[in-house]
Amino acid sequence: MAEEYRIPQHVAIIMDGNGRWAKKRMMPRTYGHSQGSKTVEKICEDAHRMGIKYLTVYAFSTENWSRPESEVTTLMNLLREYMKDCIKTSSKNNMRVRVIGDISRLDADLQESITKLEEASKNNTGLNFQVALNYGGRDELLRAAKKLAGDYKAGVLSDEALQQLTEAQFEEYLDTKGIPAPDLLIRTSGEVRLSNYMLWQLAYAEFYFTDVLWPDFDKKELQKAIDYYNKRDRRFGGV
Ligand code: FPP
Repeated sequence: MAEEYRIPQHVAIIMDGNGRWAKKRMMPRTYGHSQGSKTVEKICEDAHRMGIKYLTVYAFSTENWSRPESEVTTLMNLLREYMKDCIKTSSKNNMRVRVIGDISRLDADLQESITKLEEASKNNTGLNFQVALNYGGRDELLRAAKKLAGDYKAGVLSDEALQQLTEAQFEEYLDTKGIPAPDLLIRTSGEVRLSNYMLWQLAYAEFYFTDVLWPDFDKKELQKAIDYYNKRDRRFGGV
């Protein structure tokens, strides 16, 4: 009997190659980011139509602050615009938006837009869309450890509870609390590395790498990644 075609419940994406895409067109890198931002919107719609329930994109890493100031400003402005526009589109598309990462370092108005959008979209039942913003996997784990230590110190966690702490309980301290782990990771632009992305959560994900640059990534490419996912035999450490 033919095996059933599986749609991954959660897809995580490292959107890479915006700069190279722009350079190929003799345009500034920032043009690549604005095209990349359009691709994000299209992919959200495609993912939802395909039956994907969770999508998480790496928009700005804890290391991206070291890029030239003008590029950081452009990225922040794109994200600012996105969070504002998304109040409308998320309600139209029934999409729930959440940000993972340490938003405390972002400008106050951007933090405010994020909180507003998360609040406004929290009861939407369509695609769960996570934007990783000022996100780093190590930073997330470190912040989780600090929160846990704080709870221990405050007596919220007893000695015994700490001794018996399970992985599921630790996950409550991560930014992805309540969000299932990704089944499939996609990285565009031919780079084959994790770049500090969702280190805990990607432990059992399938990895798909493509040479396509992020602004060129479309529904057909997403379908290819899911076809690849279907050829994998996921055993989660079993036989
Ligand atoms: C990597 O390309 C891309 C980024 C660091 C930023 C991703 C951001 C966006 C697509 C826009 C905003 C996002 C949302 C959610 C609206 P790169 O600059 O490293 O490309 P390169 O490797 O070719 O230089």
